[in-house]
Amino acid sequence: MFAAVGQARLLVVASTAAVVLIIASQFSSQLPPKVVCSFAPALRRIQGIASTLSLPSQHVVTMAGNRAMDTPLLRLRDGNKVPMLAFGTGTAWFKEPEDHDKFDKDLVLMTKAALEAGFRHLDCAEMYDNEAEVGQAIKESGIPREELFITTKVANGIKDVPRAIDESLKKLQLDYVDLYLVHEPWNLHTREDYQNVWRGMEEVKASGKAKSIGVSNFVRKDLEMILNGSPKELPIVNQLEYHPYIQRENDGVPYIPWMQEQGIEVEAFKSLSALARCPEGPLVEPLQRMAKSHNVSDSAVMLRWFLQQNIVAITTTRKKERLQEYAQALTFELTKDEMDEIFTEGKKLFKRFYFPGRYDPDDRS
Ligand SMILES: NC(=O)c1ccc[n+]([C@@H]2O[C@H](COP(=O)([O-])OP(=O)(O)OC[C@H]3O[C@@H](n4cnc5c(N)ncnc54)[C@H](OP(=O)(O)O)[C@@H]3O)[C@@H](O)[C@H]2O)c1
Ligand SMILES: *[C@@H]1O[C@H](CO)[C@@H](O)[C@H](O)[C@H]1NC(C)=O
Repeated sequence: MFAAVGQARLLVVASTAAVVLIIASQFSSQLPPKVVCSFAPALRRIQGIASTLSLPSQHVVTMAGNRAMDTPLLRLRDGNKVPMLAFGTGTAWFKEPEDHDKFDKDLVLMTKAALEAGFRHLDCAEMYDNEAEVGQAIKESGIPREELFITTKVANGIKDVPRAIDESLKKLQLDYVDLYLVHEPWNLHTREDYQNVWRGMEEVKASGKAKSIGVSNFVRKDLEMILNGSPKELPIVNQLEYHPYIQRENDGVPYIPWMQEQGIEVEAFKSLSALARCPEGPLVEPLQRMAKSHNVSDSAVMLRWFLQQNIVAITTTRKKERLQEYAQALTFELTKDEMDEIFTEGKKLFKRFYFPGRYDPDDRS
């Protein structure tokens, strides 16, 4: 008798789940087609129902797990999928050389808070000197490895990339990273330099120690050094400074769509510059207005602008409460007019924050 009731309830749950999923699919967001959406509200409801029946959670959840924020996934050309909102452990968390021997417990706590808030993509680097803290946080979080997307980057170790990844993996206490990036092109001079480092990256990918490989801070001529060297693997991602005040376009020749056409996906850092670094800028008023009209934070509006361009947004914070503000980027959509207004207003100011001295002042690429 109880068993029959139980079965009937299960049936109701299963059919509710199906209906909810179908309804959710009708609302598939304005994110472009390469983005695999995770049908968040539907899942959350199914998970809610499931937990009252104590069904094993693996029957009803996707990659993200119960508390994970509903991050859309960007499908890479190599088949891997990147959660489109990332928590970074550079800038605000970068360790100064004099602190090299200090273990940053605050970063462990913040990384765990980011995971708790639902972030599943962590953006790290050898250069930030805090992979050990990230590794500790991952371990303490107890989240299964396959639910996480971990990026790290090689800078000092470019002369011997396979050795550099071993050192990073040891600090991270991991067997592999999801994405491994050449942090910067500035130490690469000759065609040989580029091709040597890229061969090292290919070796790392072949060994399985990185699922995907890419670059960071590469302008088009840097990318072409690799593309023209008959690589076995193409760079799958370029992580670079991108925000409304640097739209990566010189004399009407845009760089971002060119990369996307080659199958090189873009990850944006300094993403919140319009809010964090330009308090007098032309976007402050529009972002606040849009935030109010969607009842979200201004940072959520800014982050959403990247997602709707098929771009991974990387941000960070030293304040826990920001994590919830950032997560609101996943709960609404910007209209086409709002997207366009951010592009148009953004063009009124040009700002490069990451090593501007390395570029010609007029170079906006
Ligand atoms: N590949 C590379 O070479 C490279 C270079 C730079 C960065 N990155 C990556 O990108 C990550 C993000 O760093 P970023 O500097 O580029 O981040 P960002 O998103 O441009 O800025 C983050 C800062 O914005 C502030 N903020 C958040 N909401 C705000 C608001 N509503 N108003 C005013 N300020 C606000 C936060 O300050 P509070 O801390 O006070 O909350 C936070 O520290 C790094 O951690 C790193 O992983 C990579
Ligand atoms: C706005 O958002 C807040 C919290 O994010 C929520 O409590 C409130 O009900 C929302 N207001 C409206 C009008 O939706």
